Amino acid sequence: MHKIAVLPGDGIGPEVVAEGLKVLNALSENYSVKFDFQEFDISSERYLRTGKLVTAEDMDQLRKFDSIFLGAIGDDRVRPGILEKGILLALRFGFDQYINHRPAPLWRPFGRLKRDVDFNIDVFRENTEDYYIGAGGRVNNGRGSLDLHVKRHLYDMKVRLEANADAADDYAFEIGMMSRKNIERFADHVIAFSNIIGENYITVVDKANVCSNIYSLWREVWDEKCKKAGKGHGYMYVDAMTMALVKNPDKFRVIAVPNMFGDIITDLLAEVTGGLGLAPGGNINPEGISMFEPVHGSAPKYKGMNRINPVATILAAKMMLDSLGHRDLGQVVQQAVRTAFDQGVYTQDLGGKATTTEMGDAVVEAIRKAK
Ligand code: IPM
Ligand code: MG
Repeated sequence: MHKIAVLPGDGIGPEVVAEGLKVLNALSENYSVKFDFQEFDISSERYLRTGKLVTAEDMDQLRKFDSIFLGAIGDDRVRPGILEKGILLALRFGFDQYINHRPAPLWRPFGRLKRDVDFNIDVFRENTEDYYIGAGGRVNNGRGSLDLHVKRHLYDMKVRLEANADAADDYAFEIGMMSRKNIERFADHVIAFSNIIGENYITVVDKANVCSNIYSLWREVWDEKCKKAGKGHGYMYVDAMTMALVKNPDKFRVIAVPNMFGDIITDLLAEVTGGLGLAPGGNINPEGISMFEPVHGSAPKYKGMNRINPVATILAAKMMLDSLGHRDLGQVVQQAVRTAFDQGVYTQDLGGKATTTEMGDAVVEAIRKAK
């Protein structure tokens, strides 16, 4: 029995999560796997009603589960950053999910490139540091000090920033930070993954030509780790990487990328594979509780219309199965999505006619037939 915390969240989150659960339930009817789902209302609605983001109580409750299955968080009524940092990032950091794994295989015939080029990329995005640490602030009139605080499972750090400018302007800071131990454990995971799939090369992305403090530490660790593991690796600047992912995605297999640039290139790559409607992600803590979600957001304008593509969330459920040790069932789900597409069932974002629920039904049907 796998205990799964279900967080449907905002906007179209509940609709796509319902389809993901439908697929997981279809598996437990046909295979020997059982889930105990418990739903949590951690959402913008709750925030607007009660002012609560993720509370210490929520964290204590969630800690009792094997995995977290998340829809989407985001609401136009709330100022940018509140829900993102207060819910999504709080969960990622709070459960020390230091790896964000975003697979990006080409989904024929939906690929958006003009040229038919086959590719299958796994992106590993560092998920707790970089420019996402939330340390920054403003000094007005050219002077001031900021007392900053970064707390992670690996450390609890205070940082003091003193600014004294000769021009009495307003200044805003956003500090990026990486720690050696975190990069090390992240690199270990990516190297282990590439060993499992038999890949001997990792493309490491950064912007070490400009942000050379933060990314020289990053490179130092990658050089050490890859040398020790006998793993080939090479670096790409992120600007060149965005170009290469459109031009030659077939040149890449495993990509490791810092948090901020990872956010950007995974949206780009999702589009190249067929669209955000097909892109799942796993926030992974190999020793703890991982959380699975679609890469897309809450798309509030499509809420309640039964037209959003649930496949990203269904594939997030697939990743959750993999992480719970059911790679065979993960494969069943992946294949069922393929079968549904091959039968011509797909949603409007892909040029099809299926509704959200019809798409989920087609995947369920394919699972039943495959048995
Ligand atoms: C993502 C999202 C989040 C991120 C936001 C909503 C905080 O864009 O999962 O890619 O930046 O990581
Ligand atoms: Mg993003």
